[in-house]
Amino acid sequence: MAKQSLKAQNLVTIQKLDKPFFVLAPMDDVTDTVFRQIVASCAKPGLMFTEFVNVDGLQSPGRPRLMHKLLLSKYEGPVIAQLWGLKPENYYKTTKDLIGIGFAGVDINMGCPVKTVIKNGACAALINNKPLASEIIDAVQEAAGDALPISVKTRVGFTSVDMSWPEFLLTKKLNMLSIHGRTAKQLSKSPANWSLIEEIVKMRDSLYPSTLIVGNGDVLTRAQGLDLAQKNNLDGIMIGRGIFHDPFVFAKASPWQGWSREQKIELFKKHIKLHIETYKNKERRFETLRKFCKVYINGFDGAAELRAEFMETEGPEQALNLLNQ
Ligand SMILES: Cc1cc2nc3c(=O)[nH]c(=O)nc-3n(C[C@H](O)[C@H](O)[C@H](O)COP(=O)(O)O)c2cc1C
Repeated sequence: MAKQSLKAQNLVTIQKLDKPFFVLAPMDDVTDTVFRQIVASCAKPGLMFTEFVNVDGLQSPGRPRLMHKLLLSKYEGPVIAQLWGLKPENYYKTTKDLIGIGFAGVDINMGCPVKTVIKNGACAALINNKPLASEIIDAVQEAAGDALPISVKTRVGFTSVDMSWPEFLLTKKLNMLSIHGRTAKQLSKSPANWSLIEEIVKMRDSLYPSTLIVGNGDVLTRAQGLDLAQKNNLDGIMIGRGIFHDPFVFAKASPWQGWSREQKIELFKKHIKLHIETYKNKERRFETLRKFCKVYINGFDGAAELRAEFMETEGPEQALNLLNQ
């Protein structure tokens, strides 16, 4: 297929989503192909993100250890691959690698505030380094050409709110910009500031109306997301931790509250079985499955005890045996 038509297709996928569209946020150790398939089987959002994947690692001999983060299945709907790293040339090469393998776009992580990441100048640290941020975006856009839409996910500032940052990003003619309404320093602590996101939408309207704006931060239900989207004139709403409270968070009417212990355990078993099938060579650590314990084993008698037993298990097969009992 010609590159031109690939980009056209991908862009159409993003542009033609009913607005406001919902997005599953990128979450490290969480939003792998397995969990995305589980979410899709419950209630598919308009878009999903991969976990962040390091381009400098991908373009090094360590590449095989990271490739599992880019697995994709046909059951997930449109998925954006999220990249992070430092070297523009590695962003360039990685974006080239991503063309034509099924992703709906490439996102650059400019928001992760984790110390080990920002101490080297990556992710949220780029908020304080517009020249490098600009080079990285240019490299990704040049590599993507007409083949893939490009987006950035970021925050509203580093130590304090800095509206020159979204203003700068809007000059970069991105296809999509996802804004988490907190500074990097705020981590996930104080409430997300949606009035800043609203200001960025207005800025977009005057600077570059083609960039889709997605708001993110503290949305726990679809109804809350729709309300925020309408109030702030947003194109999309991104939900992260809300999925831990309700795997059907993207459904018009979630059945989760009414689900029995058996139904929840069946869904967890499906997740674990898919993990076993997908990572036959143990490419992904079993420990990542423990993160989901509280999602599925919750809200029924004996849940706390079962969770404690689950935490003692040492591999997916043993975990499955426990849940089968
Ligand atoms: C466990 C976890 C992992 C995360 N990993 C990433 C990541 O890889 N890339 C990223 O851009 N944001 C990451 N985030 C941030 C989320 O995408 C999102 O911006 C944040 O959780 C706020 O949204 P929420 O209030 O809906 O959870 C992560 C958040 C959590 C809780």
